[in-house]
Amino acid sequence: MTPPPLQSVLPEGVHPFPHRHLLGIAELKPWEITWLLDQAEGWIEVNRGLRKRDDRLAGLTLINAFFENSTRTLLSFEIAGKRLGADVVNMTVAASSVKKGETLLDTALTLNAMHPDIIVIRHGESGAVQLIAEKVDCPVLNAGDGRHEHPTQALLDALTIRRRKGRIEGLTVAICGDILHSRVARSNFQLLGSLGAKVRAVAPPTLVGADVDRLGVDVYTDMDAGLDGADVVMMLRLQRERMSGAYVPSTREYFHFYGLTAARLAAAKPDVLVMHPGPMNRGVEIDTAVADDIARSAISEQVEMGVAVRMACLDVLTRRSRGVPGW
Ligand code: NCD
Repeated sequence: MTPPPLQSVLPEGVHPFPHRHLLGIAELKPWEITWLLDQAEGWIEVNRGLRKRDDRLAGLTLINAFFENSTRTLLSFEIAGKRLGADVVNMTVAASSVKKGETLLDTALTLNAMHPDIIVIRHGESGAVQLIAEKVDCPVLNAGDGRHEHPTQALLDALTIRRRKGRIEGLTVAICGDILHSRVARSNFQLLGSLGAKVRAVAPPTLVGADVDRLGVDVYTDMDAGLDGADVVMMLRLQRERMSGAYVPSTREYFHFYGLTAARLAAAKPDVLVMHPGPMNRGVEIDTAVADDIARSAISEQVEMGVAVRMACLDVLTRRSRGVPGW
């Protein structure tokens, strides 16, 4: 059976983004993803200019509620909000000091009572962001919930790939490492699959995860086979904070079998693009020489695209409350 043609361009008469929140890639149509990437494209030059300021969110309050540690994602949302003129407030709570259940809902109600115009949430529990979204009056953006989804990461990865490769459809993308614990992998599987890439999950058997088949990816437990002919190789960190037992014998052995080295990368296409969402563990999942290879590594560019993608998302999600015509 031939697959239906990929509808990645906004069909005529269809609203480009009919969602109140951005909770995951799973809820997005291919053309909504493409349209969001096009929106983000417009912010890249602004961010490269001297005066990086657009006041469309002036007077609006953005709360970044981070119940889990983060450096780049929090900073990226803070910068994105400020460049759009919003009043940005960061609330960071160490995961250990937050109790589950009622406390989470109480927090949601507390945030809501301060009349934010948009809330960005990171939380260690899958589904927690959705729970909060149901309780508040403003749009909610998921900045990573447990192992579930991290939609803006997948969007920035897609933007990086699209700009470097000119397309996503038809590319072979190998996502390698701790798939089991990775929300980045889950969001990427869905986004890249939806835009027509051939996606591989490459991991030791203990770190593949039971749900990957459902996400339409090809599973490889041998790294060399998984890298063979890949256009893009995306490395993931061993998420030790989410591991309750021994999933890998030792980091040395892990690097030996699954670490990305220049020798191993030779199995991929000569113009392969190397990516990593960060934070990187050099010498564990990726060799320093590969991470710093400016010809092939797009790791810094991913961070740059992150700000543009988040500006696009903040703009789009607040259009209805700002009374933008058609929203
Ligand atoms: C990722 C995350 O937090 O999900 N990092 C990020 O957002 N840049 C991946 C990770 O923590 O390994």
